[in-house]
Amino acid sequence: MRILTRMCTSLDGFVTTPDGRPVQVDYPAWDPEELGFYELQSLCGAVLMGRTTFEPALYAPFWPWGDLPVYVLGSQLRSDLPAEVVVDSDPVRLYERLLDDCQDADVHLVGGPLTVETYRRLGVLDELRLMVLPVLTGAGRQLTPDIGTDAVLSLIGIRDWPGGVTELAYEVEY
Ligand SMILES: NC(=O)c1ccc[n+]([C@@H]2O[C@H](COP(=O)([O-])OP(=O)(O)OC[C@H]3O[C@@H](n4cnc5c(N)ncnc54)[C@H](OP(=O)(O)O)[C@@H]3O)[C@@H](O)[C@H]2O)c1
Repeated sequence: MRILTRMCTSLDGFVTTPDGRPVQVDYPAWDPEELGFYELQSLCGAVLMGRTTFEPALYAPFWPWGDLPVYVLGSQLRSDLPAEVVVDSDPVRLYERLLDDCQDADVHLVGGPLTVETYRRLGVLDELRLMVLPVLTGAGRQLTPDIGTDAVLSLIGIRDWPGGVTELAYEVEY
């Protein structure tokens, strides 16, 4: 099992808007289909995310992750969740559950920075990809300081997407 994340970032380096929503909501041409997010999910066996990233989906007009099982790291979630959602407050226990359930499949770590860093520090984050969107937000959250600047990253790919979006893919070294 490999864990990969593919976070969107503005050109000036923010992964959230100033008011804390994912930065892609400020990108007028945002289209998860055209930018390969659904394709990526179709290649993965599960999605993994932190409680803060997951919670808005409970109130969204559509479920973003299709039929994929959803693994959420967190302790403060309501109990009446959809059946395909697995919640655990312990990152290692949740990882072991993923290993059992997913076996050889890749896992898409949706975010956010705290959960990405949690799995990087555990030594099990394999790939960090950034989707650089052609927008400037001026403020918001950066990957750092939540993600440690001691991360060792090795470039493994650059891909152009429609609308001037560039994907940078890095292998995380330990
Ligand atoms: N640009 C993008 O592509 C993108 C993608 C996803 C998210 N985002 C943005 O990222 C922001 C959320 O990121 P975030 O880093 O604040 O939150 P997060 O990683 O989504 O969730 C944080 C929560 O996960 C749990 N958690 C994380 N690490 C843990 C650990 N080591 N041990 C136990 N529990 C742990 C805790 O849940 P409990 O509090 O329940 O214990 C914690 O409060 C949002 O603003 C969202 O818009 C951006």
